[in-house]
Amino acid sequence: MRDPDWIDLAPTLNGEAFERFQRELCRRNGVRLEPLTPSGDWREDVQERAALAEAEIAYVESARAAIAPFVADIPSDADAFLAWYERLAEKGPGQNDPLFPWLERFASFEDMKWFLEQEVSGEAGFDDLVALTQIKMPQTPKLEMARNYWDEMGRGNAQGMHGPMLTRLAAFFGIDARPERVCPESLALGNMMVALASNRRYAFHSIGALGAIEMTAPGRAIHVERGLRRLKVPGTQRQYFSLHAILDVKHSEAWNREVLRPLVEEDPRRAQAIGEGAVLRLWHGARCFERYRRHFRLQMESPREAA
Ligand SMILES: [Fe+2]
Ligand SMILES: [Fe+2]
Repeated sequence: MRDPDWIDLAPTLNGEAFERFQRELCRRNGVRLEPLTPSGDWREDVQERAALAEAEIAYVESARAAIAPFVADIPSDADAFLAWYERLAEKGPGQNDPLFPWLERFASFEDMKWFLEQEVSGEAGFDDLVALTQIKMPQTPKLEMARNYWDEMGRGNAQGMHGPMLTRLAAFFGIDARPERVCPESLALGNMMVALASNRRYAFHSIGALGAIEMTAPGRAIHVERGLRRLKVPGTQRQYFSLHAILDVKHSEAWNREVLRPLVEEDPRRAQAIGEGAVLRLWHGARCFERYRRHFRLQMESPREAA
């Protein structure tokens, strides 16, 4: 049912209203993509879905306004765009955050557990996000998204599926990722990824955001993996991070070449949407890292954000 009080909180990016909004959005998202059989009043269901879409699009628009300074000069020529996009790996929001070297060298087992709790909840399921995003895409991008999805599926082997690898690590730490235990910035990141993948008006934003994950995950995964090793976490439980430290370098190269380039060459207007999506993802990540540093009381200077 439409809940105007809740929906009206959508544009807030900080404070208690932000937290209330993101927690409720996360709760509703939790059941949204569940496969169901028909039950209850379908009209109510339709209204509920409309309210959810209204709330999340209002939030996306508010975040787009916040990142406007970072996306004012995105080139639309394919070569120039790819150069701009790849620079985000170094200069985008949240890149080279000092949190990660700290996790590698100093975090205790409990610190790492808390960090993983936040990250597991924010993880909206890369496989499903790719599956939702690839619908009706042109052939070359669609094929690369299919290859990427197939890797997420362990190429048909349950042991190699990426989602369950994270679940195994979470089980080792005894992680409790119920949304009420997780900070709102992490919930917002997951909510944003679901919003972009679920609304076709943001299909190219979703492409840009997914590519930003592939491009920036390896740098963070290396630090986390070394931290886990220092804390004597066994190799099978570290696999999610050891794998992504390497595989996502290849995924990122292929994504930029086979997905981004053909899409922008076919229609240069897509560059703006793809670029905004990437910055939205990195900006949400940066807000998480800042929040985590505050939680750990780390007196570190936040790296300068520049797109
Ligand atoms: Fe993956
Ligand atoms: Fe990947």
